Amino acid sequence: MFTLTLVSLLLASSNALVSASPCVAFDINWNLLAFGLDGKDFNAGAQSSWSSGKRKASEITTSGRPPFDGTNTTCYLSQHALNSFQYENAIYVMSADSKNPSDVYIYDATAKSWSAQTVTTNGFDPSNFAAILDHDTNVFYAMSANQLWNLDMSQQKAATGSALSWNNVGNTPYPSGYNPVMVIANNHIHFLDVPNLSPGQEDIFVIHYSWYQPSPQAYPVSGGNGAVPNQFGHATSFFMDDNTVQQNFAFVPQDGSATYVVNVMSNSTTQMAGPSTKDPKATYFASSNSLVQLTSSGAANYLPFNPSGSNSDAKWAPIQALAAAAPPSSTSASSGSSPTGSSGSGSSGSSSSGSGSGSASGSSSGSPSSGSRFGFPSCS
Ligand SMILES: *[C@@H]1O[C@H](CO)[C@@H](O)[C@H](O)[C@H]1NC(C)=O
Ligand SMILES: *[C@@H]1O[C@H](CO)[C@@H](O)[C@H](O)[C@H]1NC(C)=O
Repeated sequence: MFTLTLVSLLLASSNALVSASPCVAFDINWNLLAFGLDGKDFNAGAQSSWSSGKRKASEITTSGRPPFDGTNTTCYLSQHALNSFQYENAIYVMSADSKNPSDVYIYDATAKSWSAQTVTTNGFDPSNFAAILDHDTNVFYAMSANQLWNLDMSQQKAATGSALSWNNVGNTPYPSGYNPVMVIANNHIHFLDVPNLSPGQEDIFVIHYSWYQPSPQAYPVSGGNGAVPNQFGHATSFFMDDNTVQQNFAFVPQDGSATYVVNVMSNSTTQMAGPSTKDPKATYFASSNSLVQLTSSGAANYLPFNPSGSNSDAKWAPIQALAAAAPPSSTSASSGSSPTGSSGSGSSGSSSSGSGSGSASGSSSGSPSSGSRFGFPSCS
């Protein structure tokens, strides 16, 4: 009897240490979706409806969703595949189910339905990686334990009956201590915070040729002040309204001191205000005109971004529609994860945790300038 009680106490307490990771993403109409927040899922609508506390995000929790009980859960938008005239409009969710850590959950944002895609790891470690989803090919690239892997999602809006497989792409040129910061833009994976590079320099992997560009690319801050620091942080791509490959990405270093938006076509960086909430465990996701921060207490904030104009006045603001529907926990952002005892999905406000964050897609091939930039013919 006593033993049983002890065992269940131990079970209960180890359960309590499991911290839930919500994540945010956008659908292709730039509605902000928040998953696993207070154990539920929400649609906060488009940017114009975020600042009114009167309009609450609507709950979209439905069956088949992951429990959101993993660590470092990440979300990705599959916007539009190159060889398809239809929009995927699907959100892929990784590390959202502690019992099925390699499953990729798929939310079809048009049909509003979930399915779980079984994935064979082939040696890939689903508990520790950073990943991007390539825009045009809809292939994931992930770095884990210094190796590069890929996973082809074809044009899936729902799980298929058969398992997909991670494929090993080989060793990366990086030292073993490198904690990858990866982001996709113009069909190329950009690696930030690479050891021994100067601030403002980034490494590039050209997906179409499976090739690491031998020298880094410089992205100086316009106006001449500072440079993107060599610091761990979170990077995520801005999507394009015309469904073409991303050209801009945001980087927020761990200290939250600034927000950098790198334009990989002009090789330049715009430095903007850092988020008001400096939370190293926050995660980020961008649409075409907003960068959203989800803090570890479950508060969402955004920075408007104008891809074709000035951003000098842009300010971070809270997303009130989401706060009204799912109030952030009282845990302060910097104190990290609030243990949650509840079983099953999500659980209260709780921690979001670090990680490569929900960067999403970029793409290989397609854009005419992508190959020529490095002296390659463009490939399609
Ligand atoms: C950006 O840099 C690359 C090479 O480093 C160069 O080929 C390209 O022309 C540059 N783009 C612009 C707009 O200067
Ligand atoms: C989550 O991500 C952080 C930051 O990259 C990393 O330090 C930690 O080990 C990750 N946790 C797991 C369980 O992968």
